[in-house]
Amino acid sequence: MEREGCHLAAFFSLLADARQGRLLHLTPDDQEHRIREKLEKVITQLERVSSLAQRFLDFSKPSRGDIGFEDVNLETAVKGVLSWVSQLLEKEKVRVQNQVDPEATVSMNQRDLEEIFVNLITNAYQAMRGGGTLCIADEIQDGRIRVFVSDTGKGIPSDKIKQVFDPFVSHDKEKGTGLGLYIVKKLVERNWGSIQLASEVGKGTTFQIDLPLSRVRRRGED
Ligand SMILES: Nc1ncnc2c1ncn2[C@@H]1O[C@H](COP(=O)(O)OP(=O)(O)OP(=O)(O)O)[C@@H](O)[C@H]1O
Ligand SMILES: [Mg+2]
Repeated sequence: MEREGCHLAAFFSLLADARQGRLLHLTPDDQEHRIREKLEKVITQLERVSSLAQRFLDFSKPSRGDIGFEDVNLETAVKGVLSWVSQLLEKEKVRVQNQVDPEATVSMNQRDLEEIFVNLITNAYQAMRGGGTLCIADEIQDGRIRVFVSDTGKGIPSDKIKQVFDPFVSHDKEKGTGLGLYIVKKLVERNWGSIQLASEVGKGTTFQIDLPLSRVRRRGED
C-alpha cells in the first residue's frame, strides 16, 4: 500500500502544481506527457488495490459453486509463484527444492492455487531469516493430490499451532496482518481441499494440503 500512497501523493502534488501555475513553464506537450505518465501509474495502482479488494470479497463468498474450476498443472503454478518471489528468497539465502511431479494436475481455481502458494512460501521465507531450505513436493493419495510445503525455519510453538488459521493471529512479525493462513484455509476449503500442518521449534514447519486430482488424470488412471 505504501507505493500506492506515494503515487497518489505524487498525483495530488502534480494537480496542486497545475492549479498554482507551476507547470506553466513547461510546453503543453511536456505538461500532457507528465500528467499522462502520473495518471497511468495511479490507474495501475488503483487497479491493484481494486483487485485485492475483490479477492477479499470473492473469498468471503460462502458458495463453492461461484468459482471457476479448471485443470491446473501444479508444477507450472509452483514455478510461477517461485519466480515472483525469487528475489526475496535469494536475499534470505533460501535454497529451493521443487520436487513437484511435472505431470501432477489439480482441479481447482488457478488464482486460488497461486494465492495459497504465495502465502505459504512468504511465511516460509519469513521463518528462515538468514537461510534455510524450502521444499515443495507432492504425492497421490486416494484419488487426491497431497502437496507439501516445508521449511527449515524457526518453527511454531505447539501452544500456538492451533490458532494460526484464525484471523488476525500474527506472532513476532512487525507488519503481519495475521490474515495469510486464514485466507489460505478458506481458499483450500472452497476448492474442496483440506490443510494441516506439523511444526517443531528450531527445526521447521510442513504444511500439507490435500486437493482434488484433475478429472483428466483420474480418467487416465482408471
Ligand atoms: N512457515 C512458518 N514458520 C513459522 N511460523 C509460521 C509459519 N507460517 C505461519 N507461521 C506463524 O503463524 C502466524 C500466522 O501466519 P499468517 O500468514 O496467517 O499471518 P502473518 O504471516 O503473521 O501475516 P500476513 O500473512 O497477513 O502478512 C505467523 O505470524 C507466524 O507466527
Ligand atoms: Mg503470512
